Amino acid sequence: PRYVVGVDLGGTNIVVGVMPEDGSREIAMRSQPTRADLGADVVVDRICQMVEDAITIARAETGATREQFVGVGVGAPGPLDRGRGVVLIAPNLGWRDLPLRALIMDRVGLAATLDNDANCATLGEWWTGAARGARNVVGITIGTGIGGGLILDGRLYHGSSDMAGEIGHMTIDSNGRRCNCGNYGCLEAYASGPAIAERAREAINADEPSVLSSLVGGKLERITAQTVYEASEKGDPLAREVVRDTARFLGAGIANLLNTFNPDCVVIAGGVTQAGDALFEPLNAEVRRRAFRPVVEACRIVPGILPGSAGVVGAVATFLQQNQ
Ligand code: BGC
Ligand code: NA
Ligand code: ZN
Repeated sequence: PRYVVGVDLGGTNIVVGVMPEDGSREIAMRSQPTRADLGADVVVDRICQMVEDAITIARAETGATREQFVGVGVGAPGPLDRGRGVVLIAPNLGWRDLPLRALIMDRVGLAATLDNDANCATLGEWWTGAARGARNVVGITIGTGIGGGLILDGRLYHGSSDMAGEIGHMTIDSNGRRCNCGNYGCLEAYASGPAIAERAREAINADEPSVLSSLVGGKLERITAQTVYEASEKGDPLAREVVRDTARFLGAGIANLLNTFNPDCVVIAGGVTQAGDALFEPLNAEVRRRAFRPVVEACRIVPGILPGSAGVVGAVATFLQQNQ
């Protein structure tokens, strides 16, 4: 078979892996940290190194020749120009107008395609994950940013200038919190990982003992979405309220999407799904409260089942779709 390398570039991690064209296996899936202050050169270096390593590992595992590796599918955050392979703006990486596809193609010597990271994650969950078999899918990824992907009538919908599905930047409060994109009141400014942590830090009383505060050793700057979920699970009232509010913000956003697209599946991917029922129950309740009933009844809202790899799987799928 032909093999394709998938790259998922996120705000905090780069994940790279290999798949055969039938999507039957994930091979050599590896993750490395990244940060906004690393700069594009360092990040591109790291990606190319990881691609080379993945090919080496996959060849050892499968016995495939180098020629069987036909290309690299890349998912990257931010609005981008697919035709030119350029990341236009990546608010959470601090990038502007970066010709990422060409940089990777030149270095690795393989054809490459570029698509939005959340579009890829949505496509990945649809190809081999939780949204398999659905016809109309809204995918939402919650991490450093909030991303989205739309599959309409069985095809990834890109919009008129490749920017469809920027769900994280829908306004949920017209006079609300400032977002990294410059707008105020975006869903991302309330329900992304860093935003969840920030809301908890703002609400917590530093002088009062609590589960959350003891989880971070009294150092409130160490609060993350993860510690908020953990504290909430252990019964911390403030953490529970932060999680419930998160569910309400997401629920309102999803209700808008349900009424707009009438999907049969909403798949939510990313670390936030670790919160489990504590998040999904109030989220579902909020959706039921706000969206039309036939719309709610037609749709299942599910957590992704490819937590570490949906983006890579979808990046491989986008490459294959463009290189039949
Ligand atoms: C960007 C999206 C991206 C998401 C997740 C958002 O801030 O605008 O393009 O998909 O973060 O990385
Ligand atoms: Na998207
Ligand atoms: Zn925004």
